Amino acid sequence: MSRRTFDLRRPARRRWFSGSWVWLVAGGLGMLLLLVVLSWEKLPRSTPPLARQKLFRSSLIEDLNITVEMLSPYSFTRQIIDQISLAKTLVVVSKDNNNLQFAAELSSQIRKCQALLSTAAMMETSLVMKELEEAIRDMGLLLYQAQQLHYDSATMIVKMKGQLLSLDEKMKSETEKSTKYGQIAAEELPKGLYCFGIRLTMEWFMNSSLQRKLLERRHSLRKLKDNSLYHFCIFSDNILAASAVVNSTSMNSKHPEMVVFHLVTDEVNYAPMRAWFSMNNFRGAAIEVQKVEDFSWLNASYVPVLKQLQNSETQNYYFSGSGNNRTPIKFRNPKYLSMLNHLRFYIPEVYPALQKVVFLDDDIVVQKDLSELFSINLNGNVMGAVETCMETFHRFHKYLNYSHPLIQAHFDPNACGWAFGMNVLDLREWRKKNVTGIYHYWQEKNADHSLWKLGTLPPGLLAFYGLVEKLDPEWHVLGLGYTNVDPLLIKNGAVLHYNGNMKPWLKIGKEKYKGFWEKYVDFSHPFLQQCFIHG
Ligand SMILES: *[C@@H]1O[C@H](CO)[C@@H](O)[C@H](O)[C@H]1NC(C)=O
Ligand SMILES: *[C@@H]1O[C@H](CO)[C@@H](O)[C@H](O)[C@H]1NC(C)=O
Ligand SMILES: *[C@@H]1O[C@H](CO)[C@@H](O)[C@H](O)[C@H]1NC(C)=O
Ligand SMILES: *[C@@H]1O[C@H](CO)[C@@H](O)[C@H](O)[C@H]1NC(C)=O
Ligand SMILES: *[C@@H]1O[C@H](CO)[C@@H](O)[C@H](O)[C@H]1NC(C)=O
Ligand SMILES: *[C@@H]1O[C@H](CO)[C@@H](O)[C@H](O)[C@H]1NC(C)=O
Repeated sequence: MSRRTFDLRRPARRRWFSGSWVWLVAGGLGMLLLLVVLSWEKLPRSTPPLARQKLFRSSLIEDLNITVEMLSPYSFTRQIIDQISLAKTLVVVSKDNNNLQFAAELSSQIRKCQALLSTAAMMETSLVMKELEEAIRDMGLLLYQAQQLHYDSATMIVKMKGQLLSLDEKMKSETEKSTKYGQIAAEELPKGLYCFGIRLTMEWFMNSSLQRKLLERRHSLRKLKDNSLYHFCIFSDNILAASAVVNSTSMNSKHPEMVVFHLVTDEVNYAPMRAWFSMNNFRGAAIEVQKVEDFSWLNASYVPVLKQLQNSETQNYYFSGSGNNRTPIKFRNPKYLSMLNHLRFYIPEVYPALQKVVFLDDDIVVQKDLSELFSINLNGNVMGAVETCMETFHRFHKYLNYSHPLIQAHFDPNACGWAFGMNVLDLREWRKKNVTGIYHYWQEKNADHSLWKLGTLPPGLLAFYGLVEKLDPEWHVLGLGYTNVDPLLIKNGAVLHYNGNMKPWLKIGKEKYKGFWEKYVDFSHPFLQQCFIHG
């Protein structure tokens, strides 16, 4: 494994050192703050929040070996490594903005984290949980501040090309001090993905034919609102993942010309996402790309999650645990704060003209024609979803705080859980039943985090309670990102879901499941090749 990594890296230097590769990678490390830092959000749904905390703790105490710790789905080490790479880029950005103090704070925190990791890796000693927690918390707070300072836009990243070169030199010398840590980091960070995003951003701004092409496709605009077509929505900050979803859906569609994809991404990935989807044709499927920042109605006066974030107690909650030192960190992953992640509760507002859509997560791959989903009778329900309570594990009581009187009063503890990832949504029923209003109600009740802890599934269970139509499990096969799945289920599955941390685009992805996803990625594309993204 590790040998292969080094083989990949060496030719990289030789070929690209004359300029672009170095900054591509370095810039990419940070630019796509969302690509990877955030891609570990989708924790396996089989692990309810409370058990998850225990797992955090025991995995650290028991697995003193850093390699093992990194492979655990809730690795602190990976979290730190991601934070470091993001922070490095932000150092440059903040210097560029003459915010030297902030840059110094970031740098010092980077050094602290690196020291922590390289000591653990070289001495093969245990990672001290307390130190890790503090490091992640402090860095998380800084990164959050950076976000508040708007140090995350794509134009900013493009501007700092020059400075990144020198930063990379410094980074290299630091990394070489601890080869072992460097090695682990290299394996874990999909640098290729960062590079890919940057490469596409450049293409978008430098090749005017792409922007022209997108304009020419405007004639397909009417398709976006045509309710006789098959509409899919995907909210993603990962271009390659979104591409695999789009490609696999249209490749397996009997009528690709009737398929319409509605993508929403964030500011950083907006240009590269548009570049990629205007460069490639997916069997004539119509594709729309929007960015969440453009939805001005999605603001703190309307969205409880955003309002709650303005509150310093909530910020503390997300970034420093619940104040009690004995409580393991829980919510440091900024994806929990990402609006892209909560957008699923606003689909009727994002697409006011549409009546029915299928929501797809970006960590899935499609193996069958999905058009039949649009004619399934939902019996007046708002959502069609596969249930997950084959084991007692996935019932409501595992996700929600049943000591809370509101939960006790409204929800059957043995109600069956279901999964986000492939959901049929009847937007007319949604509007009629005011599901977004119900979601807002519960989100506001949870301002003190006493009903549930994190994620979008618990509020989803509450908002859609009694409004979910059970789908045949073969429509949506779960678990490819963390567990062993029945091969027959995989074979017959229409949608395979890599929920869990072992995403197929990561080195830690399960080898035996990567093939189903890689089939739909064009590894021969020059940009993927330039970024050393291989199958
Ligand atoms: C860590 O554990 C793995 C798997 O048990 C083993 O292969 C590896 O050699 C160990 N590494 C160290 C540094 O002990
Ligand atoms: C610009 O993009 C188009 C469409 O992908 C491509 O055919 C063309 O070669 C590109 N031009 C340059 C100068 O790279
Ligand atoms: C916030 O959203 C509401 C509706 O969602 C809208 O009426 C209002 O104009 C928005 N405010 C801003 C500042 O955009
Ligand atoms: C939907 O619910 C919200 C919050 O509960 C409420 O303010 C709003 O009036 C409701 N809208 C409709 C159309 O019932
Ligand atoms: C569950 O709800 C009860 C009652 O509101 C509250 O006292 C308790 O702290 C909550 N538990 C958690 C883990 O938040
Ligand atoms: C889409 O998938 C097919 C294989 O099914 C592959 O040949 C093609 O290159 C993919 N296209 C893109 C743009 O990834």
